[in-house]
Amino acid sequence: MIIAVEGCAHGELDKIYESVERLSRQRNVKVDLLICCGDFQAVRNERDLQCMAVPDKFKDMCTFYKYYSGEVKAPMLTLFVGGNHEASNYLQELAYGGWVAPNIYYLGYAGVVNIGGIRIGGMSGLFKSHDYHKGHFEFPPYTGATMRSAYHIRSLEVFRLKQLQGNIDIFVSHEWPRGVYNYGDTREVLHWKPFFRNEMANNTLGCQAGEILIHELKPKHWFSAHLHCRFTATVQHNEHQTTHFLALDKCLPKRRFLEIIDIPHDLSKNLDLCYDPHWLAILKSTNSLLNIRHNTQYMPGPNASSSERWNFQPTDEELQTVMQIFDNDFRIPLNFTQTAKPFQPLPYRDYNRGTSQPKAQLNPQTSAFCEKLGVSDPLELLIGKSVVLEPVTNPDEIDLEDDESDFPQEGETKAPEKSEDGSDLFFLDTNPGKPQRSKMSLPTPTTEVWEEPQQKANEDTIQSTSVPNDEVATVAVVADTPKDDGEDQQPVVKKLKRRNLELYTEPEEET
Ligand SMILES: [Fe+2]
Repeated sequence: MIIAVEGCAHGELDKIYESVERLSRQRNVKVDLLICCGDFQAVRNERDLQCMAVPDKFKDMCTFYKYYSGEVKAPMLTLFVGGNHEASNYLQELAYGGWVAPNIYYLGYAGVVNIGGIRIGGMSGLFKSHDYHKGHFEFPPYTGATMRSAYHIRSLEVFRLKQLQGNIDIFVSHEWPRGVYNYGDTREVLHWKPFFRNEMANNTLGCQAGEILIHELKPKHWFSAHLHCRFTATVQHNEHQTTHFLALDKCLPKRRFLEIIDIPHDLSKNLDLCYDPHWLAILKSTNSLLNIRHNTQYMPGPNASSSERWNFQPTDEELQTVMQIFDNDFRIPLNFTQTAKPFQPLPYRDYNRGTSQPKAQLNPQTSAFCEKLGVSDPLELLIGKSVVLEPVTNPDEIDLEDDESDFPQEGETKAPEKSEDGSDLFFLDTNPGKPQRSKMSLPTPTTEVWEEPQQKANEDTIQSTSVPNDEVATVAVVADTPKDDGEDQQPVVKKLKRRNLELYTEPEEET
């Protein structure tokens, strides 16, 4: 099975699918599955955008809404986990996973699926120790604090994943597992991200939950993003089990954000997306551990003085029950439903102005899944059933709020969507003030399957721009347009400030 892996999506679905298409043509292969490693930004409309924990200057509608509305369809099955830049209100509707648009499937807080016999697990979010043992207590409209904690990893999901038995072919997380850089060429990371030196030296870079899981689950492949650089590592667990780790960049011109791998699958099976029976059995047996409160709750462990169950590896009986419930048919139903009105583009509209967060909304996909398996929807426990709205099925009925205040004021004209020569403009978030658009078009991806990163290290271009952050990094910069004198260009070392510090870090949160 040909799988394309992409780092942080940041809402650039059009560009990602174009790049996959181009890479497929180059390799003369047909991509069966695209995996995105978070910061997917499944933003359906203006109100979803207000639930995304990013500074206002990064709140861009991007292109997901077109896939949600049905204007365009994802050209291949697409799987993703959540990161720290998400429309958390939408992802919270799908705690156990579900279709966010036709052909685009979110794995949930954590999830395991099968495609053609390939077993894929994933975990969404960021690890923050102060929220790790809390319940899933957040729901929209969010405060500044809950908008962030909503995507923090919880011990329940890690506990559930640790119950898995059997081989896992692929695991996907947004953050790198902590310490994974020790299994690769750390000089490669430090070349691009010298400001990680201290964190790497202190072993504080990356996700502690991911570190636990990579060593417990020992998947064959592990894909991550978040740190916005490409990196590979090989974790040799024992004589027979190895994890090939691959981290990729975000979707920007001349960045290494996309790769294609070929993983042999069971040719007797078709490529339907299926639930994993073991995972379903674990979800069912651990449902009583679901916590929706703010308080700390520890997962059960071996304790001589307690008879409480702590091993939830599925028993034969539990697996049998799941098989009966699903009648041995684990294909995930194609039951995508719109639960909010899709964005309607209007020229010169400032869609962030005066837009409030939506209220929490239950999703019929989750309701059906929970009813069938006999588990609880955490969101329904929080808000009750009464707020279920009728699904929105007709985007044409949208009321357009053409209020004059929605339009930009003097001096706030937005850049056109097309360049003078008619080609698509590509958004670059390099300016801390107003968003700028660059005439750069997305280049043909140049990365190879499992190539050695050192070979291409000097081919990337980094935009040198003025940013307000204090941190200064030294990186190699090469000219955007090659000289035509035939001489090999030498990298010019420049000092430039670290871009988009907010993308890597979170502000201190209220306690
Ligand atoms: Fe991220």
